[in-house]
Amino acid sequence: MEVVILAAGKGTRMHSAHPKVMHDIGGKPMLAHVVATAQRLQPEKVHVVVGFGAETIKLAFESFPLQVAINWVSQSEQLGTGHAVQQALPQIDVGAADNPVLVLFGDVPLIKAGTLQAVLTHCNRDSVSLLTVNTQKPEGLGRIIRNDENQVTAIIEERDASAEQKQIKEVNSGIMAIPAARLERWLGSLQNNNDQQEYYLTDIVSMAAQEGCNINASVIDDDMEVMGVNDKHQLALLERHYQMTTVEKLLSEGVTVRDPARLDIRGDVSCGKDTIIDCNVILEGSVSLGSNVEIGANAVIKDSVLGDGVKVLPGTQIEGSTIGNGASIGPMARLRPGTELGEETKIGNFVETKNAKIGKGSKASHLAYLGDVELGENCNIGAGAIVCNYDGVNKHKTTLGDNVFVGSNSVLVAPVVLEDNAFVAAGSAINSAVPADSLAVARSKQRNISGWKRPAKNK
Ligand code: UD1
Ligand code: CA
Repeated sequence: MEVVILAAGKGTRMHSAHPKVMHDIGGKPMLAHVVATAQRLQPEKVHVVVGFGAETIKLAFESFPLQVAINWVSQSEQLGTGHAVQQALPQIDVGAADNPVLVLFGDVPLIKAGTLQAVLTHCNRDSVSLLTVNTQKPEGLGRIIRNDENQVTAIIEERDASAEQKQIKEVNSGIMAIPAARLERWLGSLQNNNDQQEYYLTDIVSMAAQEGCNINASVIDDDMEVMGVNDKHQLALLERHYQMTTVEKLLSEGVTVRDPARLDIRGDVSCGKDTIIDCNVILEGSVSLGSNVEIGANAVIKDSVLGDGVKVLPGTQIEGSTIGNGASIGPMARLRPGTELGEETKIGNFVETKNAKIGKGSKASHLAYLGDVELGENCNIGAGAIVCNYDGVNKHKTTLGDNVFVGSNSVLVAPVVLEDNAFVAAGSAINSAVPADSLAVARSKQRNISGWKRPAKNK
């Protein structure tokens, strides 16, 4: 079995400079969804026909994990779906007469592998297998024409259909499986005498019927699964549908989601038991949440692992971080990549961390910047304390032992080491090591001028 995915069209109705198939559903390009589904069928080869924006598409796919390498096929002029499949033909093994070719569309992203498997079982050297759908909204789609014996005899595109044919509610999903040898012959005789003057893949169905070849139609009722995206309305509709089905999976695993319509998942999420997710949360990339985790409103979490009992308070952003059990973050904290929080740590409001390893029980409760740091256990970072990790050219590291106390509004100029139990007086600028069990005071001494008169306003 070989798969051909059609993705050469510009998608004029998207009104975008980007190729249509590179628009995201659930944070991943539509074409990437289709490629991933195709790969689950373990085909011999996956051909992807590209034309508009081909280089952009190929480049983007270099960073996606693939099981089977994609065979990129170029269709420089988009002369129709039949013409597109024809471009892939020279690279398809047509010698094997039983070899089925499964055609998928890059703009039909939510098709399931199980459905395709069923379509494939009905394709052999004498049978074409189609996937059709009964829908209340057939507008814009190819209509399935059946004879008196209820056998499929043709597919007519809407713009070529008679008023009577337009009443038909069974439509073409675009997905079909065709025996390779016959496909080659049929594609060779396609004509473009239709309203769009395109070579339609759908025309091979009437050729098959005339030859007495079986045409099997697997009919489904879920029009969302086979919905094609031609404009931004359909993109938004499918995105919502995808989100609802993804969130439903979390609900059935026992996660409490305050409002399933206000959680967006753009990647892969796993959750433990009794985790609660409040409204307007976005989870991106690979996110793992432990048990009894609470995610507050408006939090954005990307590529991170959160242990059990972690509390993320509203408005917090977390990316590329690992959070130990029982930690509390936010409200309005920002954890940047490379943050590793130990158990029972606390990162409070307006604290930013980056490349920061923070030991068990340590706290930065308000207004701090911790970049390129390593903190031991039970440290306390006062409000307004920051590290100067950047000298304008290079980044340097700051290291704190256990039980270090950094007074409010202090500056730690990296590279610098503060040993166990070091104590920094508020407002200090620390640029050299503080030994264990020492107090560092690095600020000018206070001077009081008695009887001082405030300036008076000029008359
Ligand atoms: C197509 C089907 C229609 C079906 C509908 C389902 C044909 C003639 N029509 O119509 O019966 O109901 O899909 O969604 O097949 N493409 C190319 N090269 C081309 C033309 C298209 O690669 O020359 C690709 C597009 O990028 C797209 C897919 O093929 O991914 C479908 O093309 P599109 O123009 O969207 O076809 P529809 O009008 O939706
Ligand atoms: Ca389409």
